[in-house]
Amino acid sequence: MSWRGVIEEFRSHLPLDANVEAITLLEGGTPLIDAPRLAEALSISGKLYLKYEAANPTGSFKDRGMTVAISAAVANGADAVICASTGNTSASAAAYAARAGINAFVVIPEGKVALGKLSQAMAHGATVVSIDGGFDEALEIVTELARQCSIIVVNSINPFRIQGQKTAAFEICNELGQAPDYHFLPVGNAGNITAYWMGYQEYHKSKLIGSLPRMMGFQADGAAPIVLHRIVPDPDTVATAIRIGNPASWKGAERARDESGGVIESVTDDEILQAYGILARTEGIFAEPASAAGIAGLKKLGELGRLAASATIVCTLTGHGLKDPTTATSLAVSPPTAPPKVEAVRELLGI
Ligand code: F0G
Repeated sequence: MSWRGVIEEFRSHLPLDANVEAITLLEGGTPLIDAPRLAEALSISGKLYLKYEAANPTGSFKDRGMTVAISAAVANGADAVICASTGNTSASAAAYAARAGINAFVVIPEGKVALGKLSQAMAHGATVVSIDGGFDEALEIVTELARQCSIIVVNSINPFRIQGQKTAAFEICNELGQAPDYHFLPVGNAGNITAYWMGYQEYHKSKLIGSLPRMMGFQADGAAPIVLHRIVPDPDTVATAIRIGNPASWKGAERARDESGGVIESVTDDEILQAYGILARTEGIFAEPASAAGIAGLKKLGELGRLAASATIVCTLTGHGLKDPTTATSLAVSPPTAPPKVEAVRELLGI
């Protein structure tokens, strides 16, 4: 049977009434790709897999939670939803709202949302306002607007979002037949690490897996409130998706770390960009800079000898590299131009 989307595939694990209609773009069912060349490049001795969430309909993991949040909102009679976003949540909210035939209102930090994500929100017809402030302020404003105007918030403070996102952990366990030893991922507003941990724990309680992974979360150095144990008032990083100084699911992330025996640490922008390049070149997999924070963390811990030998490691790649063409092209040399002649092109190609 072909893939039916997160809600129909996992309905018995989701808190939706049986009669709630799924608003779906057939999200989920994303590939778990083995990554031997990346493992070799990072001197990782174990088995490395990449959960490629860029293969979701809007190019990020947000679709898993959005299908559940929008379906629940529509079942409750909503005719609009609202979110703050560093980009991907807004792209996903706009797409699923369009699918449902309802309005999406989006508040974003000005100049700090990657071009692809902004294009998506606009293409799907969301009403977008940017503020001269960061994501944390945008989320505060959205929360207040939602209260004043009785509109449902579809950020991960909406519990249906986390519920949907936990299904990625189910898919990994179903495919591996067990949980990995380590699960690496980037941390921004901290909903995703909270969701994965919920998913693994539920499968463990249901005896579908016999062990739990260590949750290994990575923030960017310039936006590392959980690592620093304090709110970062003016976060900054090249990984704009995780440019967050006061994560909504802070406590959930700490619980995931502590209960799993994992870590939440940080990596520099240089380490993120290096990992971004290594991933794209060794495996042909293009992920956005925030996704590379998890890979950078894996590289760092591997180099420090902090990972058990022969472990099974999963790293979630949260969003597609094409989301942020500005970063991609700024790192590359622009291609030289040749006259339209075989010899001239051959010379420049060096073949
Ligand atoms: N990676 C990407 C590509 C993201 O877009 C986000 C979050 C994260 C990682 C971090 O996940 O917040 O659950 O810890 N993006 C949100 C947004 C904040 O508005 O699109 P998290």
